[in-house]
Amino acid sequence: MIQKEIYWSRFADDFEERNNYVIGKADLDAMLAKLSKLKELKNVLELGCGNGTYSRIIAKNADQLLATDFSDEMANASEVRLKSISNITVEKANCFNLPYADNSFDTIFMANLLHIIPQPEKAISEAKRVLKKDGAIIIISYTSEGMKFHNILKMICRYMKTYGKPSPFAQKIKLTDAQNMLVKKDFKITEASLIGSKMKAIFVTAQK
Ligand SMILES: C[S@@+](CC[C@H](N)C(=O)[O-])C[C@H]1O[C@@H](n2cnc3c(N)ncnc32)[C@H](O)[C@@H]1O
Repeated sequence: MIQKEIYWSRFADDFEERNNYVIGKADLDAMLAKLSKLKELKNVLELGCGNGTYSRIIAKNADQLLATDFSDEMANASEVRLKSISNITVEKANCFNLPYADNSFDTIFMANLLHIIPQPEKAISEAKRVLKKDGAIIIISYTSEGMKFHNILKMICRYMKTYGKPSPFAQKIKLTDAQNMLVKKDFKITEASLIGSKMKAIFVTAQK
């Protein structure tokens, strides 16, 4: 078990700007637009919130959003950046060992977490534990699935320039991988699609 997040923490101050460059503003906006259509999310737990790019959008259709990240630096940056939004609280939490009771949340949201952690299935199990019966899980995660080869090469160049070597835990997660992980944990898939144009992300929603 990792005790301190050290890879992403280095980019806490300007993570969103760096990501805008690596992903491209147009595709990032398309992903945010997709998420903004999710309604009545009620009491939401976000895992791996980074510096809050997606938290703002999710909070618009939630009663409460508890945005969490394992990195002290990311959690601190989110706290500062999101402090004017009254229904968001930020806490430090490890997605493998959440400090929350069983059946606590209506919705679990994770953006770009599944493809950067060592044991994504374990994070899904832990998410299921804290999710209420009939609660929803929403997963969005960048993937090279469906991307044109030249766009993959360009993205790798932008990534290396921006972040250096990829995180040791980074892996390609395909749409079917995420669906299979959820089905194995007895979730019922409610939507699954690849979104984005030059850059792609898997988008999956499922019910406990
Ligand atoms: C690729 S970033 C994505 C951040 C944000 N969700 C976004 O898409 O802009 C991954 C985030 O997951 C966090 N993270 C890594 N391991 C984690 C863990 N075990 N539990 C919770 N967060 C973790 C990192 O600190 C980082 O902020």
